[in-house]
Amino acid sequence: MSKSAGRGKAATGLVVLGEARGRAPGRVRLVGAGPGDPELLTLKALKALQAAQVVVHDGLVPDEILALAPADARRISVAKRKSRHSYAQSEINRMLVAFALEGLEVVRLKGGDPFIFGRGGEELEACRAAGVECEAIPGVTAALAAGASAGAPLTHRGAAQAVTFVTGHAADGQVPDLDWPSLARANHTVAIYMGLTTAGLIAERLMAAGRDGATPSLIVVDASRPHERRVASTLAGLAAAAQGLEGPALLLVGEAMALAQVDAGAYGGYEGAAMEAKA
Ligand SMILES: C[S@@+](CC[C@H](N)C(=O)[O-])C[C@H]1O[C@@H](n2cnc3c(N)ncnc32)[C@H](O)[C@@H]1O
Repeated sequence: MSKSAGRGKAATGLVVLGEARGRAPGRVRLVGAGPGDPELLTLKALKALQAAQVVVHDGLVPDEILALAPADARRISVAKRKSRHSYAQSEINRMLVAFALEGLEVVRLKGGDPFIFGRGGEELEACRAAGVECEAIPGVTAALAAGASAGAPLTHRGAAQAVTFVTGHAADGQVPDLDWPSLARANHTVAIYMGLTTAGLIAERLMAAGRDGATPSLIVVDASRPHERRVASTLAGLAAAAQGLEGPALLLVGEAMALAQVDAGAYGGYEGAAMEAKA
């Protein structure tokens, strides 16, 4: 769809406030904020933020990045909260569409990349259904930041011919129904999002499907942030390595993780207890 295609079309049942008042329609930009380090924001994301009138953001987006929007831009957190009302995805979709139809420049700011486990696709569909222009601006997804921080390439000649991004958390809170035999193939990196609490079950499924329990594995918590932590283990030791860790964490399983730096030197001995290093 061209950038202007769909602008100003009203979805059935929606009141087109911007048009009703003679305003130009606004638009929604789904912007990837990256994994946390503000320097990992793209220039395009920065420009979008600087032009925003409304910023609807997740909890993982740090204040330094939110501060890049104009001081008078409205900032709305739709972070999941334990104690207060959390916005349902349908409410977020409606909010984005309504602001755009008011004629506003809306930035939907998400951690990492908006289309990697970020529900950006649903927001895009909602905008399209309402005839609101919607553009996606990619961001550095957590798996890339985790591999980079640890000095462990997600693909590596002779050790990782493929990388697969999976979620470790199904909608019902259980381990998702993944294609375990294909994830268990050797020379392949599996990057697991939202897998800290299900790490043990994921490891069991991978090993039951044939992945070697000695496969090097890495957990990176808060990748690219000041409190980043990296814990290395074997696949068989992944559950023990995950114990006691908290925060957004990426699990990386694969032969190339033997290159991860979890201490001063390169990581070579993944047998035995988990090793930990602070960034
Ligand atoms: C809802 S998903 C969003 C992923 C995001 N769209 C992306 O592309 O990185 C949230 C999960 O991403 C991972 N994550 C996000 N930021 C992270 C970070 N800085 N370090 C490690 N993992 C992170 C964690 O697995 C977290 O539970």
